[in-house]
Amino acid sequence: MALFRLSLFVEPNTIVRGKPVYLRYAEMRDYDGWAKLRAQSREFLEPWEPTWPSDDLSRAAFRRRLRRNRDEIINDEAYPFLIFHAGNNMLVGGLTLGQVRRGVAQTATLGYWMGEAHAGQGLMASAVRAIIDHAFGALALRRIEAACLPHNERSIRLLEHIGFRKEGIARAYLQIAGRWQDHLFYALLDSDVPPPLKQR
Ligand SMILES: CC(C)(COP(=O)(O)OP(=O)(O)OC[C@H]1O[C@@H](n2cnc3c(N)ncnc32)[C@H](O)[C@@H]1OP(=O)(O)O)[C@@H](O)C(=O)NCCC(=O)NCCS
Repeated sequence: MALFRLSLFVEPNTIVRGKPVYLRYAEMRDYDGWAKLRAQSREFLEPWEPTWPSDDLSRAAFRRRLRRNRDEIINDEAYPFLIFHAGNNMLVGGLTLGQVRRGVAQTATLGYWMGEAHAGQGLMASAVRAIIDHAFGALALRRIEAACLPHNERSIRLLEHIGFRKEGIARAYLQIAGRWQDHLFYALLDSDVPPPLKQR
């Protein structure tokens, strides 16, 4: 993806390294693997995500997604990453630091998904730890928020395992699977993170 370095935080070839995963921005060459993984995981993911547009898995929609991603990255609005297994470079999922608010907030919202075949193996925990380092280091954020449905045990366990703290319930917070639903609201501050996770 060709990116212009307009923002202080834009590095076109950013690679965020975890163990055993790494994260990078999506490119057109990722389309086949992305569409296959999303299609195979559709039933697993749909209950937890906004309703998929009918053409969501098409090449044209992926191209539009990349354009939107590029604009968001350039404008320091969102950082949408794909997650790859470092052992075989296979795409396993995705993770976005979105809704970046600068000024007096310096906050972003974390969202993530894992391909069904790769879930429950600790890969997302590794990816989230790596992105925390990136967010509190290179992106100079100080707070990461995450919201999940109260019955999403996997997501709750992931957030609590990483050290996110529950702050309350956000009523009818997001439209997920076609319905406005209450969400548990979690956040992690840079001051919550012990030194090995935070490289400053
Ligand atoms: C939520 C999700 C991203 C977590 O990814 P993952 O790869 O399964 O997570 P990890 O393997 O890194 O596991 C992280 C923690 O969750 C736990 N976990 C994994 N699968 C679980 C399950 N089926 N039930 C309960 N906890 C589970 C792990 O045990 C681990 O906790 P622990 O270390 O305390 O044991 C993934 O399951 C997913 O994409 N789910 C469907 C979509 C979704 O929920 N998106 C998020 C919306 S907020």
